Amino acid sequence: MRILGIETSCDETSASVVENGRKVLSNVVATSLKDHQRFGGVIPEIASRRQLEYINIVTTQALKDAGVCLKGIDAVAVTRHPGLIGSLLVGISFASSLSYALKKPLIKVNHIEAHLYANYLYSGDEAPADLPLPAVGLVVSGGHSSLFYISDFQHFRLIGETRDDAAGEAYDKVARILGLGYPGGPVIDKLARTVGENDIKFRCAPLEGSSDFSFSGIKTAVLYHQQRHPKAKPYPVEKVAAAFQDSVVEVLTEKSVEVCKKKKVKTLLIGGGVAANSALRERLNRRAAESGLIVHFPPLPLCMDNAAMVAGLGFHRISASH
Ligand code: KG4
Ligand code: ZN
Repeated sequence: MRILGIETSCDETSASVVENGRKVLSNVVATSLKDHQRFGGVIPEIASRRQLEYINIVTTQALKDAGVCLKGIDAVAVTRHPGLIGSLLVGISFASSLSYALKKPLIKVNHIEAHLYANYLYSGDEAPADLPLPAVGLVVSGGHSSLFYISDFQHFRLIGETRDDAAGEAYDKVARILGLGYPGGPVIDKLARTVGENDIKFRCAPLEGSSDFSFSGIKTAVLYHQQRHPKAKPYPVEKVAAAFQDSVVEVLTEKSVEVCKKKKVKTLLIGGGVAANSALRERLNRRAAESGLIVHFPPLPLCMDNAAMVAGLGFHRISASH
């Protein structure tokens, strides 16, 4: 079964064709990131206008790359929520029209659950990973930081989430404070790799006994550090960035491992833009090995917003409904 996926929840416009829920035949992503950069964050009105311009082009390209025509599609899957309302509306209207015209089913999927499902996708001759369920899923993106218990692809139960900022949002805000531009994640990741010994330390609120996160305090801690060192010339941007990252990576890793132990689950799935972070990957891989867990990250392009994850999860939704 071939499913056409459509994803337009934030600043990306993406279309993808996925076979039998796992094999990615094509995945085309257009981003309006450059149009938002000078504002330091995504402007919803700009995002949805670009999506209106891109959606047809991106979908045509995805079908071409997959070598299938519209008639060769068995169903259309689209991101229903969460996301920017105008952006979601572009994708949902487009996917609904296609489904109606082609007389093929329309499946609406949750964006966060799709981020975790991205772990099950593969392309080309790549061997698919063996990731048994139940699993614990950690989604870390610009809008979300949540832990789920996944018993099967129909059931994602929320067991913890951020009480304020998302992890990616904290990266973006800290990068703004440090004058590093937008988005903050990739640049802080790169800068932190240049730092060895670090005498600067921050700590994220541990919220002990809870599976929730809090990342708003860490951003304020960075701001106060900068304000307390007005004469530091040059200001140690790299060390501050690395210390911020260490504290975020530590709390994400330790809470995820703790939840796996509590739930007696051996599989830990990671998803969302922050899953691309090299320090998070390293620390989670190390802690998982120490704790006898299988930890899995999607391939880098599938950590970010993409339609392949939507088409993939859509396959399981449609299979379950028959
Ligand atoms: O999942 P995503 O593409 O969009 C949302 O659904 O939010 O995630 C975007 C977020 C941004 O906040 C960005 O700064 C962060 O992911 N990000 C990273 C890295 N690459 C992207 N954060 C840390 N390290 C990275 N390498
Ligand atoms: Zn996302």
